[in-house]
Amino acid sequence: MKVLIIGGGGREHAIATSVAKSKHVDKIYCAPGNAGIGQIAECVNIGVMEFDKLVQFAKDKGIDFTIVGPDDPLVAGAVDAFEAAGLTAFGPRKNAAIIEGSKAFSKDLMKKYFIPTAGYETFTTAEDAIDYLASCEFPIVLKADGLALGKGVLICNSYEEAKEGVRTLMLDKQFGHAGDRIVVEEFMTGREVSVLCYCDGNTIVPMTSAQDHKRAKDGDQGLNTGGMGTFSPSPFYTEEVDEFCRKHIYQPTIDAMKTEGREFVGILFCGLMLTENGPKVLEYNARFGDPEAQVVLPRMKNDIIEVMQACIDHKLDTIDLQFEDNAAVCVVLASDGYPEHYDKGFVIDGLDEVAKKEGYYVFHAGTKLTEQGIVTNGGRVLGVTAKGATLKEARANAYEATKLVTFENKYMRNDIGKAIDEA
Ligand code: AMP
Ligand code: GLY
Repeated sequence: MKVLIIGGGGREHAIATSVAKSKHVDKIYCAPGNAGIGQIAECVNIGVMEFDKLVQFAKDKGIDFTIVGPDDPLVAGAVDAFEAAGLTAFGPRKNAAIIEGSKAFSKDLMKKYFIPTAGYETFTTAEDAIDYLASCEFPIVLKADGLALGKGVLICNSYEEAKEGVRTLMLDKQFGHAGDRIVVEEFMTGREVSVLCYCDGNTIVPMTSAQDHKRAKDGDQGLNTGGMGTFSPSPFYTEEVDEFCRKHIYQPTIDAMKTEGREFVGILFCGLMLTENGPKVLEYNARFGDPEAQVVLPRMKNDIIEVMQACIDHKLDTIDLQFEDNAAVCVVLASDGYPEHYDKGFVIDGLDEVAKKEGYYVFHAGTKLTEQGIVTNGGRVLGVTAKGATLKEARANAYEATKLVTFENKYMRNDIGKAIDEA
């Protein structure tokens, strides 16, 4: 089977690594890919939003199965474009990917179907939003309705800050049209957990849990990023929590989407807050998380193509999804200055040292192959993942491995997995 993966980050490298292990796959292409993906797949210079070119490429090469990694193409209808050409693609169609593409849609869905989440109001004018804020308690959370690279969420501690936030999102349009509408949401406290689930439209099967670290700096300080590191499983995601979520969140969500005529096939990522009143949904994503995929997929025992094909065939109930009884930690190596200003183009050394060790992975995010070798080419450069028998062992292994990889402006958080000590 020939597989095409759309995307070029650490998530897609993790997906490609799993696909490469599938007994059904002979050849992998990745558009656009990156230097690491290029070691196991043929990278093709087509952008993730160039649907016509991607479909034409898939036809020309006789691709049997396409996997769409990132949110932008999913929300814009990449899967629909492939299906219209008679091709098989894994991921939700446009009318289902809206669960990530519009926060107002997802909040209204949860409200209508009694899925636990924070209370909220939506606004289409800054004036109305500011009027409403005058009656709110603080902190409060402002969210741009549309996609904003995970950065369209503002936590505001006072009325003044919230007013400024509304201006940033709705008037200055920091995130473009994503801020045409905003959600104003109650602030929740608790532990955050990410649970990624395979879905076939009717059946939803959660994978092992993970926890991300979204802020740039140690101690959860600094700006929000795409994610600076992850660990899996989360010790806070107990069997009791899992049982509650299956009953009150996962199945109701997939059922709700079906009832709305928006059958969800693909990966549903549930961002959860474990509050003192029980688990509540922070957000949905319509894809694997990045860097959640980098700790979840290496622990999955199944053949990924068999699971994805079962989703497309509406036969997920025939799959016995299994994960290794161990743990994994991923530490992101970034370019100093990320997520704001940073330099790139620095040569990366030591990659092979890590990759040759059993149970260790270096997932490439922003890298490029040049005449000088592999160089940094983005804010998040690499994800160094290590497994261990326990979370603590995995964390020690991952941090040990980060020492082997060097480049000029290397930056990482030193407290990924700190929560493990509080479990
Ligand atoms: P989101 O993109 O919706 O997941 O939001 C990004 C981050 O903002 C989350 O991972 C949380 O840390 C935080 N956040 C979002 N919504 C809330 C909320 N209602 N209460 C507290 N924190 C929140
Ligand atoms: N790591 C969070 C995300 O992928 O949205």
